Amino acid sequence: MSALLEVSGVSVTFDGFRAINNLSFNIGAQELRAIIGPNGAGKTTFMDIVTGKTRPDEGSVTFGERSVSLLALSESRIAQEGIGRKFQRPTVFEDQTVFDNLMMALKKPRSPFSVLFFRPSGRDAARVEELAAEVGLGDHLARKSGELSHGQKQWLEIGMLLAQEPRLLLVDEPAAGMTLAEREHTTALLVEMAKTRAVVVVEHDMEFVRRLNCKVTVLHEGSVLAEGSLDHVTKNPAVIEVYLGRG
Ligand SMILES: Nc1ncnc2c1ncn2[C@@H]1O[C@H](COP(=O)(O)OP(=O)(O)O)[C@@H](O)[C@H]1O
Ligand SMILES: [Mg+2]
Repeated sequence: MSALLEVSGVSVTFDGFRAINNLSFNIGAQELRAIIGPNGAGKTTFMDIVTGKTRPDEGSVTFGERSVSLLALSESRIAQEGIGRKFQRPTVFEDQTVFDNLMMALKKPRSPFSVLFFRPSGRDAARVEELAAEVGLGDHLARKSGELSHGQKQWLEIGMLLAQEPRLLLVDEPAAGMTLAEREHTTALLVEMAKTRAVVVVEHDMEFVRRLNCKVTVLHEGSVLAEGSLDHVTKNPAVIEVYLGRG
């Protein structure tokens, strides 16, 4: 099976400092992948490159069956190609209900005209209910988003990303600040989502990564240090030295 996203030989230098160093990374169309690594390893910069926020000095980044080069596309075009990103802090509209947040996120033409005259159809409402059920908020559609727990807000935001029907979803530290029960729900959600799309999760919490039960990529100094199952990479002496050894 060929990769959905192919990053090859990518380097980025900030003021003479090589934050990403000859990095190569592939992910399949229906794959869940965890990226771990110490602070400053380049995890966020990697996501910035894939989403077009940061442009590499060298290397290639291609996406989809036609291997479209993402380096030639703007951030918004990359999003339209089917790459979604979830940041750590939820950005839901707190005064709006769960239903309305999801409705606003549905994939629609975005011209000012279409927003002005937008009237939700029954089909849209059904899709919103489906998305809410998918992220575990099916019983909370009428609630104001501001009343949701931290974990529920994160799931709502995941639902809003899913509304855009991304083929690749990048998620930065989803478990941060969650209760154990919320983490478990989040694990199940990520595993389920990766059955129909590619999902990359950056996460520090090893127990969380263990429960994801997926291939792990260890980044260090902007390169891939090791790749494989969590058991495989955590036995690697180089990984123990640079990452696990620090706590
Ligand atoms: N815009 C930037 N300008 C200068 N240095 C940066 C910039 N973005 C990231 N860096 C540096 O690149 C390295 C990798 O950062 P980052 O990708 O945020 O690491 P991680 O997310 O793995 O903690 C760090 O040393 C960081 O200080
Ligand atoms: Mg980071």
